[in-house]
Amino acid sequence: MTDPGAAQEEMERLAREIERHNRLYYENAAPEISDAEYDQLYRRLEELETAFPLFADPASPTRRVGGAPSEGFQQIRHPIPMLSIDDLFEIPEEELDKIEAKTGERPPKEQELIQFYRRLQKGLGAERVPVTIEPKIDGVAVSIVYREGRLDYAATRGDGTTGDVITDNIRTIRSIPFALPGDAGAPAVLEIRGEVFMPNEAFARMNEERDEEGLPTFANPRNSTAGTLKLLDPREVAKRPLDFIAHGLGLVEGGEIGSITEFHALLDRIGIRKNTPVWEADSVEAVIAAVRALDEQRHGFDYGTDGAVIKVIDRDAQQQLGYTSRAPRWAAAYKYPPEQKETTLLDITVQVGRTGKLTPVAELDPVLVSGTTVRRATLHNESFINEKHIGIGDRVLIQKAGEIIPEVIRVVAKKGGDEARFSMHDHLKGVCPVCSGPIERRETLSGSKSDQRTIVTHFCVNFECPAQVASRMRQFVSRKALDIEGIGTIVAEKLVERGLIHSPLDLFEIPEATLGALNLGTDENPRMLGDKNAAKIVQTRERAAREMPLSRWLFAMGISQVGESAARELSRLHRNFREIAESELLAELRTLKTGERKEDHPLLAPYEIASEVGPAVANSALDFFQSRAGQAVLHRLEELGIDPRSDNYAPKPSDTVGTVGKTLAGKTLVITGSLSAPRDEIAAKIFAAGGKVSGSVSKNTHYLLAGEGGGSKFDKAVSLGVPVISEDDLNAMLTSGSAAAEEP
Ligand code: IVH
Repeated sequence: MTDPGAAQEEMERLAREIERHNRLYYENAAPEISDAEYDQLYRRLEELETAFPLFADPASPTRRVGGAPSEGFQQIRHPIPMLSIDDLFEIPEEELDKIEAKTGERPPKEQELIQFYRRLQKGLGAERVPVTIEPKIDGVAVSIVYREGRLDYAATRGDGTTGDVITDNIRTIRSIPFALPGDAGAPAVLEIRGEVFMPNEAFARMNEERDEEGLPTFANPRNSTAGTLKLLDPREVAKRPLDFIAHGLGLVEGGEIGSITEFHALLDRIGIRKNTPVWEADSVEAVIAAVRALDEQRHGFDYGTDGAVIKVIDRDAQQQLGYTSRAPRWAAAYKYPPEQKETTLLDITVQVGRTGKLTPVAELDPVLVSGTTVRRATLHNESFINEKHIGIGDRVLIQKAGEIIPEVIRVVAKKGGDEARFSMHDHLKGVCPVCSGPIERRETLSGSKSDQRTIVTHFCVNFECPAQVASRMRQFVSRKALDIEGIGTIVAEKLVERGLIHSPLDLFEIPEATLGALNLGTDENPRMLGDKNAAKIVQTRERAAREMPLSRWLFAMGISQVGESAARELSRLHRNFREIAESELLAELRTLKTGERKEDHPLLAPYEIASEVGPAVANSALDFFQSRAGQAVLHRLEELGIDPRSDNYAPKPSDTVGTVGKTLAGKTLVITGSLSAPRDEIAAKIFAAGGKVSGSVSKNTHYLLAGEGGGSKFDKAVSLGVPVISEDDLNAMLTSGSAAAEEP
């Protein structure tokens, strides 16, 4: 394997990465990677920890159960920890090939499952161990406690030990009874654990409705469920189509439940939906058969599944097998690999994205994959097609990445004749397929230092390309940009389709009556946007024009490279759009060579420019504002009387002129734990005082603002010697100016 030094480094990196994905998944309900990718990282870390136990960190994410409880809810300690469950993976074909080549023997792909069952047999000293096999539901785990037959409280899993009390939200779920039937023989204290989820169809319908109302849509039912359970207003929760399925037991007092079979019978008597279908098996062969049978059926369920859970039926046997620090030894989850299907690549078409990016799309002979019919799949870019030698007519293997976006994995049979390389430029005859505008070829480097590749992408560079306007519009009005309400994808598309909008700024000139009469349906079957929605749009667009600061406007423009934090930093360095367009600072910055430090540059050094703004951002921002399209935008804003101002202008932290009242100028703070107000509000105060807020603690952090219950960030700050301050300290700094006085 790797040498110890490299292993230790990799372990630290993996731990950080896994912690970040945990937060995204558990706390923000916004994962960036698929479960399979997460599992891979996790497994790699486990593998290294086994190989190098000396370096294994006792606080490694492999030793904990999940994320931290969120703010706003009361917390409760689970009477019995809500543990995780160990995963068993199917061994991929390629891996089996390798093992066979080396050892001459080909293990079954269910080997990990077989080993798990053998451990049960050994642990209990029995040949036949009765187990159940049931679906692993892709929802959000909750604990529901009944006391004397009445719903006492419900809580999220939280970090496994402590969770949020979400009783009011859980009460909105109709299938969860408030009281259990008196004759059901339920124990005096009964903690039922299970998954809250959003049925697939109801989820799709809700997302469509949200989109029409201009509300942000959810990526998948799981995120949507997690987001819903975090809402503080149960009336809002009640509007969302949540459901519940029970799959386990927590605390039981004043009654005996001796087995899973008895538990299921009890669920039937008290009318709580149990997890079905469920198989019983008492041999390895029968377990494998059940796992396979479930795989056949699971795509027809009304919720997502990515595995089968295998559990020992008898509760005494469960106790005998016991627990590791993170999971029971008597249960495991067998994870199904994402379903892959073979089909024919009929054609390659090209889609134009919001930024003008031209994405090649595989037009496929329709096939059913993981429950939906797939007709199209992404081919990413020209380089991807050529590296994989993909050609029209070939038989290709496809799968759904991260459960949603279908992608082509590889060619299984060449049918497309010769190996002619795919050229986007030739394919499109040099023009955008939507607007016939000019296209531009860009090369970017990707991969690690040792394995660097050039990726060729193409862009439509016509700012007014209609394919881009609707999606630019969505970015323009989004909550983090100008926060103009009432414009979802459908409304945006219709505005463009009906010729009311050629550029997002046109939105400011559409009369209210015209908006109200906008037909969202078809000519035969019209459906108007309505007066109420029109009024909302007009009201919020006026607010955007009058009040939204420069940073929001910058982000709203959707300039390549200029995300939220870069926009914020640009607005700290400039007063308005004109200053950015003519910025000498950015002109210097764009010429900075790789390896050259801003700190060493005579013109740049006094500014202490944050890493969010580097040569690439400077270049992109100047390119935009100096282009004809950008100049037209500035001119148009002037005509409309819109002149957004910076609300955090403090270009030189040492320059007292710019920092009057800016007591936190140049300071970066990280926030952790629960505070007296939502983080957004506290962050706004910090911004207003010229400071910045970052998501993670590093040696560049000036202060950690810690509320109740700060966890890993707190430890990190202490270990890096970053000063930890309280909310009172912050308030003192905001008023006295002590922070700006002492330079770092
Ligand atoms: S039983 C002691 N059964 O998967 C743990 N869990 O990694 C026993 N989950 O968040 C768990 N479907 O909420 C069990 N049929 C099922 C499940 C299931 C989903 C969730 C569970 C937990 C996670 C465990």
